[in-house]
Parts: sequence; structure tokens; C-alpha cells
Amino acid sequence: MAAVAQILPRLTTPILCYNGSFPGPTISLDRGTKAVLRVRNQLPAQHPLDGHTLYTSTHLHGSASLPQYDGYADDITNPGFYKDYRYPNFQHARTLWYHDHGVHFTALNAYSGLAAQYHLHDPLERQLLPQGRYDVALTISDAMFAENGSLGYDDNSHSGLWGDVILVNGRPWPVMKVQKRVYRFRILNCCISRSLRPTLSTGAPLVIVGTDGGMVPVAQSVANYRHAGAERYEVLIDFRKYATGQRIELRNLSNNNNVDYDFTNKIMAFDVTGDPVDTTDPTWNRIPTTLVGSEPMALTAAQSVKTRRFRLQRSNGLWKINDASWQDVIASGYKRAIADPALNSVEIWEIENGSGGWFHPLHIHLVDFQILSRNGRAAFPHERGPKDVVYVGEGETVRLLMKFGPHQGRYMMHCHNLPHEDHDMMAQFRVGLKETDPDPNDPMVAARPVWDDGTS
Ligand code: C2O
Ligand code: CU
Repeated sequence: MAAVAQILPRLTTPILCYNGSFPGPTISLDRGTKAVLRVRNQLPAQHPLDGHTLYTSTHLHGSASLPQYDGYADDITNPGFYKDYRYPNFQHARTLWYHDHGVHFTALNAYSGLAAQYHLHDPLERQLLPQGRYDVALTISDAMFAENGSLGYDDNSHSGLWGDVILVNGRPWPVMKVQKRVYRFRILNCCISRSLRPTLSTGAPLVIVGTDGGMVPVAQSVANYRHAGAERYEVLIDFRKYATGQRIELRNLSNNNNVDYDFTNKIMAFDVTGDPVDTTDPTWNRIPTTLVGSEPMALTAAQSVKTRRFRLQRSNGLWKINDASWQDVIASGYKRAIADPALNSVEIWEIENGSGGWFHPLHIHLVDFQILSRNGRAAFPHERGPKDVVYVGEGETVRLLMKFGPHQGRYMMHCHNLPHEDHDMMAQFRVGLKETDPDPNDPMVAARPVWDDGTS
């Protein structure tokens, strides 16, 4: 729906959103609970900024959903229709998020507010990591505003949008009161282009306990870390040692090829209170070292049956993967696939970014992968957990190891710098099917949107 948000002092900002707010409602579920998300498209017919038709496709990023519920870019729901998305929720505890994925307008739609977190819990995670009010979602985005408070949009010829205001959960540079205990933050970089390098003003470590696909096998303490759009990092911050009244800032050191402004080096702040701490909660002072393993992290390169290589590049003003774009997929009647792994096979995918001028956060739908190496070296400490987005920095080649399943069918892979994705750095791969095989989970036909007459 369209709504009006109070983001800036004295001004209001028209937004698009799920259920009235940006970010939309955080959905929280236990592992094993199947869920149906009914997305009713009650958006206006056209986007107020550029007039494009406000069709949507909703992707639950981090979920191994069937293709027809995966937010396939061209599986669009027009205004006045709804679509039921079925989510299996069989995976381990993790931080997911849902956002618009409508073909060619994902960037502007997500930027306008169509994004929110989704948390999957399980018993082990409940035992090991802070819960409830000590388990805090931080959705970070950047934005630019016109004088009247409305959002501005300029993606610099599809290279990237660089807002000068940092928002956390839809508020500019907020301050949060914290107790003298350990907190867990689920940090989602929801910027459509900007990457971050979070760090604490006190020099204290950020303890990485989770990545996109859930808990890391071994916690990693870092002074700062590189965080691209769509990546999720779960981070513990220990406020025990600070004085009452002390302010600790979460700052942003930035990375190459972002455009920074006067205040984009700040994210938010924490004010330490003297409020009594519940020390019967065993997570109040726990900084775990060993957490839990997971299937992707237990894979070994020797299990791989095939290595494929993908080049990320710009040609004739279009962003491409191996010289192909989503337009080529459309032109093929959604048949063209860039890879065709067998069901449950393990493969190594090498992703190469030869340029010095751009970084690309590459997202592969359906799977969680392990980062085997970057430019021949070990993955950075903070990314040694199950991942579904990898930061492919300037001049970098990453090697990823993953198993293709449990579903068969066609899935997207794309750059998560959303103006790149829209223009047109997106491809598809096909799991466990040949091009001519019947596809019972055809994302374009298997679950059609329904006209919303308001009765259900
Ligand atoms: Cu978060 Cu295909 O996207
Ligand atoms: Cu890109």
C-alpha cells in the first residue's frame, strides 16, 4: 500500500510499504511452521516518481522456496490482485528478509519501502543467542530527500544510488537505550547500492555469530567488516563494561566505490542505562565461541562434481553475467539458463569481477553456500558462515561451494546492487531438469495471482 511516513523532523514522506510502515512488519516464526503470506497489491496503479506500473513480485530472501513462491521477477501481481506465497520454513534459524522483486523496478520499489525482516527461530538458536528485546533487528538503508520531504531517486545511469541520509529501521541516525549486557543485532544492509563497513566508536569488537544462512560454526570478533546490500550479519555487542550514560556510536568506515557524504560515516548510537539487568537470562553475559555447524559449511571441495565460472561486467551500458542479461531470459520464453546443476549435486561456482570501478553483491536464490576463497585466499573472518550473497569486490574472484536442492526448477541469480539487477544483471539457473522437461513448478504458471474482490 501507499502511506505517509514521519522520517524527517516537520516533514512527511510518501512511501510504499507492507502494512503501513517502513520497514514492514518483522515476521517471526519457529522452524517447521509452514506459512502462507498473502500479499495483496493495494498499491496505486503507478509509482508517484516515475509512473511505472506498480506490479509486485515478493521474494523471501533466504528461504528455499519453490520457484512459484520465490518472487520470480516476471511472476508479477498487478494492483488489485493478490498472491499467496507458501513458505516451507524447514531451514535452520536465520535472518531472512522479504522485499519486492518486480522485473526492472525492484530498485525503486524496494527503495520506496517494500522491504522487511523475517526471523526463523529454532531451539538451539533460542538457547545460544539473546532473544526477545535483546534480539534486535537493524535494517539499514540510505535515502535522499527533496525539500518537501519526499524521497529523491537518482541511480546515476544505473550505477548506484547514494543517499546522504542513513536510516535504521526507517529513522535517521537513531539512538537506542541499552542495558549493561550482551545484545544481538540482526544487521540487514537494505541500501539498494551502498555497502557499509560497521565499527564501534569505542574500538570494541563486533562479534559475528550469524551470516545470511544462520549461525556460523565459530564466532568471529572483528573491529569492522565489509557489508554489502542484502547481506545479513548477526552481531553481538557487549555493553557490560560501559558506564551509565555513556554513548557508543555505530559508525560506518565505508568501502571503495561508494559515494560518501558528511554524515554517512554514522549509522546510529547506543546510550547505556543503569537499568537492572536480568542475570537469570544465561545469554546476558555470554559471548559464545563455538556455535553450530550447518550443511553448507560441512561441504568439502572434493564433493564438487563441476566448476563453473561467471563473469560480472558492464557492456554497452548494460550490466551482465557472462555477457547475458535478464532480457535474454525473457526473450527465450523464460527458458534460457546459465547453468543446469543436477538435483542435490555439489558444485563450485567461481564469480569474477574484473573491474576496478564497481563491486557487485551477487545473490544466488535457493541455496546457501560456503565461500571457499577470495582471490586464492581464505574468506574474510566475518563471512565464514552459510551465505546467500557474496561481496564480489573490485578485481576479486570468489569461489563458492554449494549443493543444489531440495527443489527442482528455475531460480534467479543476480547482482543485489538493485539498479544493476534491474539493468540487467540477472540470469537464471535450472536445477534437476532439462530444458525440455515438464516443469510442475514453473514460476510463471504454477501459482497465479488472484483478483482481490476483498472477500478473503
Ligand atoms: Cu534479495 Cu533475488 O533478492
Ligand atoms: Cu552489481
